[in-house]
Amino acid sequence: MNAVLRIADLEDPTFDPFMTDDVVFGDTADLHKRLAELRRQASVHSVEYRRIFSPYPDVTLGQFKHFTVLGYDDVATVFDNPDIFSNRAWIYNIGESFGRSISTMDAPEHTRYRRIFQKIFLPQNIAKWGATVVEPVIDELMNEFALRGSADLVAEFTLHYPFRIIYRQLGLPPEEARTFHKLAITQTVVAVDLEHAREASAKLGDYFGALLERRRSAPGDDLVSLLVQAEVDGEKLPDEVVISFIRQLVNAGGDTTYRTTSSLLVGLLTNPEQLEAVRLNRALIPQAIEEVMRWEGTVTMGHRMTTRDTVLGGVSIPAGSVIDVIGGSANRDESKFPDPDSFNIFRERRFRHFGFAAGPHVCIGQHLARLEMTRALTAILDRLPNLRLDPSKPPPAILGFMMRVPRHIHVLFG
Ligand code: HEM
Repeated sequence: MNAVLRIADLEDPTFDPFMTDDVVFGDTADLHKRLAELRRQASVHSVEYRRIFSPYPDVTLGQFKHFTVLGYDDVATVFDNPDIFSNRAWIYNIGESFGRSISTMDAPEHTRYRRIFQKIFLPQNIAKWGATVVEPVIDELMNEFALRGSADLVAEFTLHYPFRIIYRQLGLPPEEARTFHKLAITQTVVAVDLEHAREASAKLGDYFGALLERRRSAPGDDLVSLLVQAEVDGEKLPDEVVISFIRQLVNAGGDTTYRTTSSLLVGLLTNPEQLEAVRLNRALIPQAIEEVMRWEGTVTMGHRMTTRDTVLGGVSIPAGSVIDVIGGSANRDESKFPDPDSFNIFRERRFRHFGFAAGPHVCIGQHLARLEMTRALTAILDRLPNLRLDPSKPPPAILGFMMRVPRHIHVLFG
């Protein structure tokens, strides 16, 4: 019973999921220019989003008829009308990796489970993690380079900190962090490599199943213990739902925050007067975060499936179609955000952004993500004085059509 619980690595030691970002999420540099051209033609296109940008087909959803939704108002309609635009599309895609995660469910099942999970991630509950988990992780990573005068902030910092935070919240053994990170990333290759995604999912599922048993018999104050004790209407959550939620968390909590923090740093470093304004006045950090969520809100696309025939943006859409809903395009719709391509933390915010989506599936971890990014940026500004891009290295380029990220941010400081 007290034997150390080990996580099994992938069978093929040569498979490297970190090398697949270009294939899975794309390496498009001029995404926003191309989306603006398409938006000018029409808000809704009868085409699969992935096929516009990638030669690698989606093996999970390729068999369906797709519609790509780009305009702000139509994107809002999709997110706000789950009875017509169902989350069941995700069953075929991330459902293969995560299992019965709440992303694959609709009401009333979704409402019932989400209520429980959401409680754990309310601002008042996550606040305590700021000091106990988030700050120590950030400090440890920054200790490695803070005195050096130069760094690649992606390779040495942003890529790691949110993953380490979620592992600590779950109480996972630190010596296995590399394997968890690798399996978490392998879950995301699902659209192009179902086999490896299923293998990673099974290995994480076996581990988390055993972990649930342990925490049930000896609960601690970690997130897994909270989850096994949580109840819906007096009933405990089914193991399958808890395991799927944890599988999703190791990705949703890590991969997205890593990418968004990286883009936030690019936004500020390429606009040094805004970086300086934030350095001098930390009360501006929340608006810098909201602006990056609009400007480069990492998750460019979501999927939905029509439950009945409908018309959107003047286009007739049959029941059972996959809707590729492009929040990343709506966030730069010029009818709502003047001068949309500029990163401007001082812009007037009259309309919500879709960086965390919207509607009943709006990101459950958004308060934690904001807290993590606030602490990360604060530490960077405190510990890396005179922070600037390294002029001897290539400038950072944010790439991708599905999940955007700069591959490197080379900086000088001190
Ligand atoms: C900046 C970082 C983040 C971004 C950009 C982001 C983005 C999103 C988006 C766009 C969705 C909606 C997906 C859909 O239904 O189509 C979502 C849902 C979700 N996110 Fe996040 N997320 C972030 C951080 C986090 C964190 C830190 C956690 C948890 C630790 C988390 C957990 C979840 C979960 C569980 C869902 C599913 C909610 C539901 O279906 O009801 N996310 N996120």
